[in-house]
Amino acid sequence: MSYRTAIMGATGAVGTEFLRILEQRNFPLASLKLLASARSAGKTLTFRGEKLPVEELTEQSFKGIELVLASAGGSLSKKFNPLAVAAGCVVVDNTSAYRMDPEVPLVVPEVNPEDIKKHKGIIANPNCSTIIMNVPVWPLHKANPIRRLVVSTYQAVSGAGAKAMAELEQQARDWSAGKTPVKSILPHQCLFNVFSHNSKVADNGYNEEENKMVNETRKIFHCPEILVSATCVRVAVLRAHTEAINIEFTHPMTEQQVRDVLAKAPGIKIVDDRANNRFPMPLDASDQDDVLVGRIRQDISQPDGRGIDLFVSGDQIRKGAALNAVQIAEML
Ligand code: A2P
Repeated sequence: MSYRTAIMGATGAVGTEFLRILEQRNFPLASLKLLASARSAGKTLTFRGEKLPVEELTEQSFKGIELVLASAGGSLSKKFNPLAVAAGCVVVDNTSAYRMDPEVPLVVPEVNPEDIKKHKGIIANPNCSTIIMNVPVWPLHKANPIRRLVVSTYQAVSGAGAKAMAELEQQARDWSAGKTPVKSILPHQCLFNVFSHNSKVADNGYNEEENKMVNETRKIFHCPEILVSATCVRVAVLRAHTEAINIEFTHPMTEQQVRDVLAKAPGIKIVDDRANNRFPMPLDASDQDDVLVGRIRQDISQPDGRGIDLFVSGDQIRKGAALNAVQIAEML
């Protein structure tokens, strides 16, 4: 079987990664249609050595298409996904538009692949920070139910799109040329800076990104009682998110038991070299499929042995977005 596939938002940071991943994984394509805004119509993108045209996304774009990989933003997904489903497509949606819809499965293939079967045309790809946290945390939760997670993120600019990545690179060039770095995409200068995530702050004082990590983890784990508190922060990194995760288990768990579980879990590479002080870093995680996990240590503030700390890093564009969506499509 091979599938007539369309990428919505093909020219974006995640869209172009879809092309690389479909090529690298030899995804069974009968055809590939590239959709973006009218601004990009007429451009070409290279796929399997061939130049493919970019077409303007319109209400007619989905005729004859079977699979849509959507990453053009939430409002476009809200408008176009129902049209794609009506045209007979299955949409793997990388935006936040449908994630908390009870009718729509929210899937990390290493965690809840069985939920894919329940789809009614749309399957949601979770938030990037949530995916990168869930890949190592889920096997631990299965081994010893987690009561409480406290996570702090160090997030790359790629989550804000290709333009935000270009802005950070330009800030570096401007600074080295003696010019004042300019910002227009992200609300603050990224170069030499760290700032609270640029999503809207809700009434509870948490920003949208933080609330996504809480709510999406509960949905993906089918565990509404798991307690999660997140602090999400942008750092001057191009494309991999890093996270410090503190876990409180139901029962005591040694560092060695945690290592043994993680060593057997899919989608993880342990990078935990205390002698050389080498641990997960976004530069090492970039362009990798696995989430790097290290700094595995007993939480000394939990004297009964129920606490563990981890430091993880994962490619935001790959496992945090395009790779996770393609894995869902493969399982489908
Ligand atoms: P375009 O490049 O033509 O603007 P990113 O998340 O990296 O910013 O990418 C967003 C993606 O969504 C791009 O492919 C972008 O296309 C696409 N997009 C943005 N606005 C529209 C629109 N109105 N119609 C179709 N695609 C859009």
